[in-house]
Amino acid sequence: MIPLRVVPRRRRLRNGALVLAAVGTLAALDAKPIAASASASASAFLESRADYQAQRGSWQTVELPEQAQLNAIHAVQLYNGKLLLVAGSGNDTTAFEAGTFTTVLWDPATGTSTNVDTPEDLFCGGHAFLPDGNVLIAGGTRKYEVLADQVTHAAGVMTVKNEDPDSGALVLPEKTRFRGPDGAQYVATEEVVVPPAHKMGSMVHTSSVELWVEAVDEGPGPVVTEGAQFSLEGPAGTRPQDLYGVASSLTLEKQEYQGLTASYIFDVQAEKYVPTGDLTRARWYPTLVSTKGGNVLAVSGLDQFGVVSPGNNELFEPSLNGWNDRPELFRYFPTYPGLHRTADNALFYSGSNAGYGPAEEGRAPGVWDLTDNSFTKVPGLRDGDQTETSTSVLLAPAQDQKVLLAGGGGVGDSPRSTDRVDVVDLDAPSPAWSPAPPLQEPSRYVSSVLLPDDSALLTGGSSGYRAYGNSYSKVASLYDPATGTMTEAAPPHVGRTYHSEALLLPDGRVLTMGGDPSFADADDEVPGTFEQRLEIYTPPYLERGLGRPVITDAPAQVQRGTTFRVSAAATEDGATITKARLVRPSAVTHQTDSEQRSVALSITPHGEGLDLSLDAREGITPSGWYMLFLSDDRGTPSQARWVQVL
Ligand code: CU
Repeated sequence: MIPLRVVPRRRRLRNGALVLAAVGTLAALDAKPIAASASASASAFLESRADYQAQRGSWQTVELPEQAQLNAIHAVQLYNGKLLLVAGSGNDTTAFEAGTFTTVLWDPATGTSTNVDTPEDLFCGGHAFLPDGNVLIAGGTRKYEVLADQVTHAAGVMTVKNEDPDSGALVLPEKTRFRGPDGAQYVATEEVVVPPAHKMGSMVHTSSVELWVEAVDEGPGPVVTEGAQFSLEGPAGTRPQDLYGVASSLTLEKQEYQGLTASYIFDVQAEKYVPTGDLTRARWYPTLVSTKGGNVLAVSGLDQFGVVSPGNNELFEPSLNGWNDRPELFRYFPTYPGLHRTADNALFYSGSNAGYGPAEEGRAPGVWDLTDNSFTKVPGLRDGDQTETSTSVLLAPAQDQKVLLAGGGGVGDSPRSTDRVDVVDLDAPSPAWSPAPPLQEPSRYVSSVLLPDDSALLTGGSSGYRAYGNSYSKVASLYDPATGTMTEAAPPHVGRTYHSEALLLPDGRVLTMGGDPSFADADDEVPGTFEQRLEIYTPPYLERGLGRPVITDAPAQVQRGTTFRVSAAATEDGATITKARLVRPSAVTHQTDSEQRSVALSITPHGEGLDLSLDAREGITPSGWYMLFLSDDRGTPSQARWVQVL
């Protein structure tokens, strides 16, 4: 089987065994060129040189098997080595309207893929790992946005109120008609159930339910911009004074994407989505982040009417297999907030986000203490008004509690973007951001990936909003947290922008995918197409012709705070194993990855093997599956061994 079309850069096979070890079966397969640009041949020649690759690494473009090609908007590295790639409707209105939702399981080691039945449109939901390694995925798309120039009928949210405590539950069918004070008519776009008013002693509390309505007549006539009361034809026995609608905004303005309450566990063994209890609130662009005890918090998102959540956050508890509101954690964040779990189980909000929400609110970074819902701002971030579409990552090792934030741009489709890279040490007495070396170009949508040698790869993005003007940043850098230095990495060949992502593979390489430009050309006239090619980065540590350490045995499960023994050997002459890391795999979308982290283990040599000691703090090593990498004193990492932390 030859499932992949691989386009290696001109690779000098210095050491056949190394190349096989480094690139697995991908490069060993038949290769057909995709394209060869003559103008790029000089840089291609430079990039093909062994000494260049040993310094900067190399890239190769890869295509998924044809039946597996998709708009990769969500990517999760599973503990069995496979990748969960989710498009849902893939930001494609035709697919959305047809109810065609896509998920692909791809095994890079064998090149095989499986199409997974996708029960709802999980496009733009959030995801996090559960302690057993399964993936909780929640939220998604109920309705696509409608731009103002396509809105023909005034529309918006109608609140139906019921003052009758004895009405029982009232079913209002789809197309229920509402009539405004000036006679304009509107219809409900869906069925809703209105509960009876609530009686408490002699007091009656009006019940209410929200629904979306559209004007019957086109044009500005039915537009409503201030509070008004609406009559409706209710079920038999209801009285107009008890059952009525109120609305203050039925307009011809842009209608935002609307969220879903969908919630599923992707079962890694069964390779299917299993429903859990729904979210209590619809969410589009939420961040899911694992918290104490294996629970998962869902934060922010647009609701079922496209309104950004004012701060309603909720918790999934595996023991309940469902979600519950957490009003005591009411706090507003813009959509897809960059949240990173700290050593003491607080959440650090880096300021990264993916748009939606007012420019003035919830943009400042800080530490969110979940024990009392307090928020302590962390000052000093440069270009603080350009955190939208930035990336942030908890640097390696996690014990150092340093977070890096890179790139980003102004709110909305602002033409501004920044090359700023700042780092904060959350363990400092008064944490504050400090400058790090900049990106090579101002960029939004940069991807950040932790490598087993503790460096962070910062790759791709575009200076313009959704790559306006063909403004791809085809550059990559490696940040070394130990020295605070940035070095240029080999440049990627495929442009990445909005709806792109990257993650570390268990073989020590990096996979990048996705990209959803508004336009295909520099003049912004031709509609863009979704980038379905993948690209794999081989870091310098696999390009130096050195043998890799090998882990021959390791326990499948380990306890936090314990020491465990592994069998391993440094295969390079004279090398010794000096570094051990547990890297929690990525679950990434929209430059948001609350999972990725790298935990340092201390090493004690023991005969043929090593004793590795694991940090006892849950906030450092949350339960779940990790990739164990051992590196030698030349900086060459092993392939990963999967280990579950209990
Ligand atoms: Cu999106």
